[in-house]
Amino acid sequence: MSKPKAWVSRPFFPDIVDRLREHFDVVQEPEERSFTPDELAARLKDADAAIVGLVDRIDAGVLAHAPGLRFVANLGVGYNNLDLDALTAAGVGASNTPDVLNETVADYAWALMLAAARRVGEAERWLRAGQWQGSRFEGWLGADVHGKTIGILGMGRIGQAIARRAAGFRAPVLYHNRSRLDAAIERECGARYVDKATLLAQADHLILVLPFTPANRHTIGAGELKAMKPTATLTNIARGGIVDDEALARALAAGEIAAAALDVFEGEPQVHPALLEQGNVVLSPHIASASRDTRRDMASLAVDNVLAAFGHGPCAGRPPT
Ligand code: DGY
Repeated sequence: MSKPKAWVSRPFFPDIVDRLREHFDVVQEPEERSFTPDELAARLKDADAAIVGLVDRIDAGVLAHAPGLRFVANLGVGYNNLDLDALTAAGVGASNTPDVLNETVADYAWALMLAAARRVGEAERWLRAGQWQGSRFEGWLGADVHGKTIGILGMGRIGQAIARRAAGFRAPVLYHNRSRLDAAIERECGARYVDKATLLAQADHLILVLPFTPANRHTIGAGELKAMKPTATLTNIARGGIVDDEALARALAAGEIAAAALDVFEGEPQVHPALLEQGNVVLSPHIASASRDTRRDMASLAVDNVLAAFGHGPCAGRPPT
């Protein structure tokens, strides 16, 4: 009997893909790129399963050309690239990669926030440009992080991992979330629930960790930025589109907040040109989960999820809900 077919949309760890090959005929793309809807449709036409990345949009249009598709595994915890209604209507299962990346993404959120607060990117660019002629006692003054109020908007597992790290900085944590956490989890994370207005007004360093949905597009726009402290920083490791990038660039230029750090952008890999002109923003190419170990764990979980969907092994990852 012939094996079912799996399409893997980007190259990764051959030893992990080999586990898939035991049960599937695998077609794996040789290089990382984004695919147009037509290209996705052509690649999925004969596929029974697919492993896709965050830039591969799987919607009703693509699914209409993929009659045999039974399962899509997303290489990421966020899954706004998957149209879940369309997948359900087509009877196609889906999974993401929760939990395995929580700590790595939390590390990176702190790295970005610290870099923004202490102006690491700006100072490095200045040094590399040969402008360091001697020490400047009042040069490169940034904001402290230790002892300052950390604000977290979106308090799922990654938000909680970010909050736990604050203890080492003796920094109080405020959070806002759709629903309040159990008191025991709040205690364990050392985090206090507040409404969004209080979070914006009191955070010295605000970190965004919400999933992207159409309802929370531009959750942080001109009004929210004005409501923040002029000394505050804003870090987005969640999804582009949660922040209105143009409004952010204006707020940074006007000194409405001190600095920002962004790993994600609306319309990435494009970055809003107004942001590129601002010195006081750290920009990185959506790499919060990109540690060697975690990317292996994510790939492995995606493969496990496909295998489980076809009856080979226990279900290893919960499907998106
Ligand atoms: C995810 O998994 O959704 C992250 O954005 C990857 O860095």
